Amino acid sequence: MEEKYLWWQKEIIYQIYPRSFQDSNQDGVGDLPGIISRLDYLQELGIKIIWISPIYPSPMADFGYDISDYEDIAPVFGNMNDFDALIKEIHNRGMKLILDLVPNHTSDRHPWFIESRSSRDNPKRNWYIWKDAREGGSLPNNWMAAFGGPAWEWDQQTEQYYYHAFLKEQPDLNWRNPEVQEAMLNMMRFWLNKGVDGFRIDVMWHMIKDEQFRDNPVNPDYQSHMPTCNMVFEVYSTDQPEVHGIVNKMRQLMDTYSERMMIGEIYLPINKLISYYGTSDNKGAHLPFNFQLLMLQWDARKIAFAITEYEGSLPAEGWPNWVLGNHDQVRIASRIGKDQARIAAMLLLTLRGTPTIYYGEELGMRDVPIPFEEVLDPQGLNMPDKNLSRDPARTPMQWDNSTNSGFTTAKPWLRLHRNYRSHNVESERIDKTSMLSLYKELITLRQSEASLLYGHYIPIYTDQQMIAYIRQADGHDRFLIILNFTHKPCYFKSPHEIYNGTIVLSSSPDLVGQAMHYSIPLYGDEGVIIRLEN
Ligand code: GLC
Repeated sequence: MEEKYLWWQKEIIYQIYPRSFQDSNQDGVGDLPGIISRLDYLQELGIKIIWISPIYPSPMADFGYDISDYEDIAPVFGNMNDFDALIKEIHNRGMKLILDLVPNHTSDRHPWFIESRSSRDNPKRNWYIWKDAREGGSLPNNWMAAFGGPAWEWDQQTEQYYYHAFLKEQPDLNWRNPEVQEAMLNMMRFWLNKGVDGFRIDVMWHMIKDEQFRDNPVNPDYQSHMPTCNMVFEVYSTDQPEVHGIVNKMRQLMDTYSERMMIGEIYLPINKLISYYGTSDNKGAHLPFNFQLLMLQWDARKIAFAITEYEGSLPAEGWPNWVLGNHDQVRIASRIGKDQARIAAMLLLTLRGTPTIYYGEELGMRDVPIPFEEVLDPQGLNMPDKNLSRDPARTPMQWDNSTNSGFTTAKPWLRLHRNYRSHNVESERIDKTSMLSLYKELITLRQSEASLLYGHYIPIYTDQQMIAYIRQADGHDRFLIILNFTHKPCYFKSPHEIYNGTIVLSSSPDLVGQAMHYSIPLYGDEGVIIRLEN
């Protein structure tokens, strides 16, 4: 049965934020040769799939998510030879490479937009979204930009507004235009022909907007501390039915190549998220990112419910996936604390479906406070009173106890955590109780046990403190996982059959090898994985 599973179902995805992984030319910014030099580390960790945030030429208004050339490499990260070397080194190790693809918008310096804004009758005018002012000169509608303020920018020269869901330096493409579709699919071909194994599609649910550009409903519960985009509900600006046709075209292209895959970045509730697997025949994204573990309150009952809801909502052939962090969100160890982050790791790596690890998560890296005068992220800069900067979760990887933790000998583009001399790959490697050791054990166990890779998810028990579930594949050992989501002790007592087994992995290494009979006591912040005998 194992043979029917594909690489992106079996293996673990590791997200690299390239600016912060490893600097090789000592300019303070990470780069592609830097990543190559750290592939052995990822291999040792048991990682087979690498997703790299955008590496294309960009003015870096949004640190690479504003692309000015889709078919080249930004000089700060290297050049095409470095990219070719990277993909070769990755494939030589039996690993896969997923590129970040940003089809919703370009940089305002992209030649397409420069042409588009040059005159109203330019052939590329309709590649972007241009609208007249409403009567009286007001904005075309009430849509808001994610990074502050309205989503419309006035162009003095041609006297129209253009739409940008993010920065004004990131104009949205008009995906209703077949020429845009063709250009984007050609760009995907370019990278697929180079051997790229998949794409993570940026803001997939944004790609098509309401044809009539109706006003979004106003949010009556908006409060001033929230990002300004929360003033309205994005009913007409995102998640339009026509988006599925676009995703399907991308998928059809991917399917003409062998074993490629596509992840969709989608922040939507489960009932909407699952439509991105495809509205018919599962011909949408292979993995619509499931962000529940980063959005939900860290509460045993809420999380248990969400897992069950997700499992129950998936289409028959839809493969699950789980995420604890990314470059846009507070790191898990900062959000729920370092002890619960160990429980989160156990959950991530024992649930059914493909896990994604954000670089540094495996070290328990925490967000780094960045003083306002050092803030670089536009989301932070544009809404300065709301503390929304994403820089804290993007700081350099902590490799060793040398200056700047081995990331660079130059001034790093963002400051490092002050604990880097004691908390880093080298120190954690030799510490059996470290987060890195826990991740390594979890990954080794997961990758060697059919039940953990492919088995059913069977919920056993949940209360206000703990979640217990079984993972079981036919004909293989079953595992009982019990996780305490609080700092308070508790005990697990089976509500059904009597389980007998042995603890094979625990957040507390000294529990390994203990037998379980009738009930099992757990300290606060403790979790166990038990191989069952019956
Ligand atoms: C996605 C990216 C984020 C970026 C935004 C606009 O959400 O993850 O980093 O700022 O899209 O491209």
